Amino acid sequence: MNFENILVDKNDSLAQITINRPKKLNALNKATINELNLAFEALEDDNSIRVIILTGSGEKAFVAGADISEFAHFSVDEGRSLAKSGQEMLFDYVENLSTPVIAALNGFALGGGLELAMCCHFRIASDNAKMGLPEVSLGVIPGYGGTQRLPQLVGKGKAMEMIMTAGMISAEESKECGLINQVTTQEELLPLANKIASKIARNSSVAISAAIRAINANFEYGVNGFDVEIEEFGECFGTKDFSEGTTAFLNKTKPSFKN
Ligand code: COA
Repeated sequence: MNFENILVDKNDSLAQITINRPKKLNALNKATINELNLAFEALEDDNSIRVIILTGSGEKAFVAGADISEFAHFSVDEGRSLAKSGQEMLFDYVENLSTPVIAALNGFALGGGLELAMCCHFRIASDNAKMGLPEVSLGVIPGYGGTQRLPQLVGKGKAMEMIMTAGMISAEESKECGLINQVTTQEELLPLANKIASKIARNSSVAISAAIRAINANFEYGVNGFDVEIEEFGECFGTKDFSEGTTAFLNKTKPSFKN
């Protein structure tokens, strides 16, 4: 598939999507959101892909936000529909993928950029990265799930402060508050992402997708996550991966999961 705003690379069971508008600090315009949706859809359908890494091109930004030039003159209805379609096509979609997605934040992750990072299953960052939701400085609020996912990750008080001040926090501070999991140098960022991804890829992808559904259930309104866990746990017993994993353990060999 040929894209204008993103690059997609595959290497064995790992895939990397790079948002590639460095002159605009990888800002998310409509075309980029469409392409990301198509790329994620294709990788989700590709059974050989077990982990997806999402990053930005250049040394300055992961994504510096939604493309302000595209929505500056929107009406109330257009604003509402921008948030709704973006959430459905990309942000909620990525969060609910069964293929794990790691965000590797190589620089500014602001506004829609941080929201994109937050819908990935977890995040790592380079030490130059800066995170923030600056929307109120533009007279708007986060619209791609930021008001919901930031408090889930950092707690309500910290989220309130970050959103109200519109300020940026460093990679180290982001790690301290639980927004990202690890910080490394810019040079080591993708090697670290690949190392973690390879570790994930050795495990049962069937069980991993069940775990994603069970963990996400904790944050779904009106859903009892414990019940979902019981259901998903039970379903695992009917899979070939369960038979492979337990047999290998009992035979003191390494499992080879066939997905
Ligand atoms: N939307 C559209 N264009 C953006 C953008 C965004 N969110 N963020 C950066 N760009 C563009 C700039 O307009 C500039 O384009 P130009 O060279 O054609 O003028 C280019 O990317 C480089 O950005 P610039 O502002 O010159 O870089 P900087 O190093 O001086 O500042 C930032 C970096 C991230 C602090 C600054 O770009 C910024 O504040 N961006 C907007 C962040 C934001 O509010 N995001 C939330 C949007 S809802």
